[in-house]
Amino acid sequence: MADIFAQALEVWEKCGRNQCKAAKELGIPRATLQGRLRSANLGLKCERDVPVVIKAEADETLQKRINDLEAALEVARRPRTRHGDGKAPKRQKGDFKRVAIPDTHGQHVDQQALKAALADIKELKPAEIVLLGDHIDCGGFLAQHHVMGYVAETRTSFEEDIAATNAFLDSVQEAAPQAAIHYIEGNHERRIERWIVTQTLRHPADSAMFKRWFGVEACLSLKKRGIRHYEQGQAYCDLRVPCTIKLGKCYFTHGHRTGKHPAAQMLKDFGSNVVFGHCHARDSHDEPSVEAGDIGAWTPGCLCQKQPMWMHTSPTRWGHGYHLQLCRSNGDFLPVNVPIIDGRSFLVPLLR
Ligand SMILES: [Fe+2]
Ligand SMILES: [Fe+2]
Repeated sequence: MADIFAQALEVWEKCGRNQCKAAKELGIPRATLQGRLRSANLGLKCERDVPVVIKAEADETLQKRINDLEAALEVARRPRTRHGDGKAPKRQKGDFKRVAIPDTHGQHVDQQALKAALADIKELKPAEIVLLGDHIDCGGFLAQHHVMGYVAETRTSFEEDIAATNAFLDSVQEAAPQAAIHYIEGNHERRIERWIVTQTLRHPADSAMFKRWFGVEACLSLKKRGIRHYEQGQAYCDLRVPCTIKLGKCYFTHGHRTGKHPAAQMLKDFGSNVVFGHCHARDSHDEPSVEAGDIGAWTPGCLCQKQPMWMHTSPTRWGHGYHLQLCRSNGDFLPVNVPIIDGRSFLVPLLR
């Protein structure tokens, strides 16, 4: 076996150290010849200890390429995260808090969950509160889809429902007397107008009169309370979708999605930041967008009883909570869906 290394060396010498010629004469590839010469030079298996030095020709181009690659690697290895100076960003003049309160459903409100939300709101001192709708339940005779099996729902009256919503508004205004409050109607408030229009046989003047007497604004004294009211059939803020408002860089609406992933669906529908109610389950979804950066949709759940009569034996996946936004005056905001678990909120107590 050792002979092949000796032979390679001999032929290589004979060919004037020309590897191409030597490889040709031996009938082997040049790389094989190089390997044999290397082995012979190291004296591994060659009997003849002839020192062979294969000169590594200085290849400036190659060296430059290596240097360039090492420099590129150095850049690539740099940490992507920009480390700040360790100091928290300072509060700016004009920073404020905004709270969105989802479905309370009048007399079907969950008192313990509402109490927990209001306790937080009292300490958070929000400058803006958005009521996301379905704050009057409008069950009983107003719920025209009810069938005979729902007798228990008809035990409560519209008067009791309105009284419960007024008590809710009283408690919100008491907890945050400084807040500008926006009341967005939900599909349940809409039942009043639908009933009026049906009962007046679609006579517009009579419908308008009954609406003035029994509509949401009248029953809840929204004008007197200084609460801004947004009706289901009206468009606001130059938007194409009715009963939707824009505050800062976020839309607020009652919502219409109740499927498995309502936030993802709402984000797709709006293509922008949106906070909504209606589905009663807590959910959120965010995505990067080409123009507006990261956008998201949030629904904080509800503040009503979690297993209503009309759900029969079907268990709900509803959850209690409210939505909080920590806002900059330029419209930027940090969204937080605050869950209320078993009638308790951990946000404010643990931040204190
Ligand atoms: Fe709703
Ligand atoms: Fe609702």
